[in-house]
Amino acid sequence: MPQVNIIQEIEALRAQVRLWEHAYYVNDTPLVPDSEYDRVYRQLQDLETEYPALISTDSPTQRVGGKVQGGFLSIPHAVPMLSLNNAFGSDEVRAFDQRLRDLLDSPNSELDYLTELKFDGLAISLTYENGVLVQAATRGDGNNGEGVLANVRTIKNIPLRLHGHHLPKLIDVRGEVLMTRFDFQKLNQSQEKNGGKPFANPRNAAAGSLRQLDPAITSQRKLSFFAYGVGRLEGFGDALDLVPRSQARLLAWYREIGIPVSSWTQLVSGVSGVLEYFKKIEEARLQLPFDIDGVVYKVNDFALQNTLGFTSNAPRFAIAHKFPAEEMLTTIKAIDVQVGRTGAITPVARLAPVLVGGVTVTNATLHNQDEITRKDIRIGDTVVVRRAGDVIPEVLSVLVEKRPTSAQTFVMPRHCPVCQHILEKSEDAAILRCPGGWSCDAQKKGQLRHFVSRDALNIDGVGEQLIESLIDNNLVNTPPDLFYLEAKILARLPRMGEKSAQKVVSACEAARRVALGRLIYALGIRHVGESTARDLAQHFGSLNALRQAARGEVNLPTPNELPNHLFGDLLSEPLKISLDDAQTDAQTRALNALQAVKDVGPVAALALYEFFTNAFAQQWLTRLEGLLEIEAPLIASQTNTRHPLFGKSMVFTGTLPTWSRSVVEERARRCGAKIVGSVSAKTDIVVAGSEAGSKLEKALTLGVTVWDEAQFIEVLGE
Ligand code: IVH
Repeated sequence: MPQVNIIQEIEALRAQVRLWEHAYYVNDTPLVPDSEYDRVYRQLQDLETEYPALISTDSPTQRVGGKVQGGFLSIPHAVPMLSLNNAFGSDEVRAFDQRLRDLLDSPNSELDYLTELKFDGLAISLTYENGVLVQAATRGDGNNGEGVLANVRTIKNIPLRLHGHHLPKLIDVRGEVLMTRFDFQKLNQSQEKNGGKPFANPRNAAAGSLRQLDPAITSQRKLSFFAYGVGRLEGFGDALDLVPRSQARLLAWYREIGIPVSSWTQLVSGVSGVLEYFKKIEEARLQLPFDIDGVVYKVNDFALQNTLGFTSNAPRFAIAHKFPAEEMLTTIKAIDVQVGRTGAITPVARLAPVLVGGVTVTNATLHNQDEITRKDIRIGDTVVVRRAGDVIPEVLSVLVEKRPTSAQTFVMPRHCPVCQHILEKSEDAAILRCPGGWSCDAQKKGQLRHFVSRDALNIDGVGEQLIESLIDNNLVNTPPDLFYLEAKILARLPRMGEKSAQKVVSACEAARRVALGRLIYALGIRHVGESTARDLAQHFGSLNALRQAARGEVNLPTPNELPNHLFGDLLSEPLKISLDDAQTDAQTRALNALQAVKDVGPVAALALYEFFTNAFAQQWLTRLEGLLEIEAPLIASQTNTRHPLFGKSMVFTGTLPTWSRSVVEERARRCGAKIVGSVSAKTDIVVAGSEAGSKLEKALTLGVTVWDEAQFIEVLGE
């Protein structure tokens, strides 16, 4: 007999899940991240498995989906719309595959799976009678959904009539309605402009748009549909051989009759096949225009699917392999401030460690004081942390109901925590800045990290920790100091042996030869990114020419060189120019000269002027110049227009065996090739290394020329 506290625990979990489900399904406004819902739902499921006597029919685990919202007609699903079981991690996927093979009594042969994307939208069932769309219903509770035909008819990629002649009398096409990230952002912008409430994510926006009582509103929201399953399929008459016998055939047939199907499905064999697919999609994920929260594996053969059957609310033959959650709950232990490379002060939340997006996160950016105030973030709060792709983890929101009474508000400091300068408000006033520049150790470290980084001087072996100890021990103060480092001194630093010390010295030595564009980028001038630096190099051709222009020393024609009649009487008066005027003139000349460069606007121009007129920066830059061998860029007229790569649009992807990505791209650029980031029909050549992913695949589908590194080097002719 289960204890009373187990009964209470189960009821508490049910109440929690019900509350969250109501917010999610009925109000389209989630209260907690999906990961938190999944965790509590699983806890409930586990307890119910352990104490089956306590399962009640009204438990949230005993029904399939959400609730039917008022205002729409309730539509019964003749074939229920089920849910999918989830697998978190490859071990659970292996267990799933093993279970199926045991059930099918074929432990030694591999199963064929159709692998699909797990769209993060909402499920829908479309009923076609004799090829005509007659009904559309949301999943609802799995047995009854909401009739949303009028709204569904406004979705552009859903056919109102199917193509072809041999159509069934009746079919329920099952699939997902979703909104692209781009359309979601546009929708939220206009919601905010019109004083409406923004949606939390594209899925909620899609759900909210589909469940509009006025179809005119739905038609303005851009929704798309992808099919992945079937409900009823009746009335093929004697053309029984037309009935698809596998998931792959079903989707291929859908495509033929005009139903949209994603092109990312793949037929694979066994557990190794599905895991390879998972890896591929995980890498391609951010390039997809819409959100997915995992992939789905389905036993391909319908006969085997039938043998395996269903549990109470999910098929046994399929599983959703979820990506690690990108949003998690954790608590804020403290808030510190960090000083960036350009002096920007960023408040950072120190968190109780939490696994987000597959990585343990202990810090998250809070951006600035305004953000902290707007989100009302306090020390001690339970917060939602998000980490997506390579993006820095951030705190999205606070669960106010979990706030302890001891929670403390945070106030930005008045002084730089590293060099004690009084902080200043930056131009846009949202950001505080330390004016210390090179005298602030934090900024010095940031600048040096930038100087040695991959796209700058690319000095291998000078890592984060070495920079810390070089500066803390006063061995390096400015970039040129790096080139005077001696192995025997380096070897005495913590975590440094003689070998690694020698490596650092050789790496610095090797970095002495540098392209002008990289050097300009490495200087760490605000608002001068990699491509602006390259444009500056191309435009001015040498460091000296850039320096002169940026200081306003360009030789504009002086009055004596101009024809006298232009000045008339003015010249009879001696010219009186004060020092201030001279300076303003120089600045104006500099800003004009700099803004003649493609993509250089007034802000970057001013930053360049300030850098090149700063006495301290000029002192170390002059020293640095003497140590480097600076490669001038080839100017257009010097580029060999007959080179086979001239004017070609190229994409590099994957890891190349000998050269680093930045080196090959530079070589290609010098031959007049244009390097682009993504593959399209306009791309001329893709150079692919190992582990090339979706870009290579796209090139192959589009028929773009693909080379390996060796072919590229051969054409380069070096
Ligand atoms: S098959 C009987 N395939 O995930 C199996 N579902 O967690 C029913 N979903 O309600 C679903 N992509 O809204 C299937 N490729 C896919 C899917 C997919 C997204 C959604 C669907 C379903 C939910 C289950």
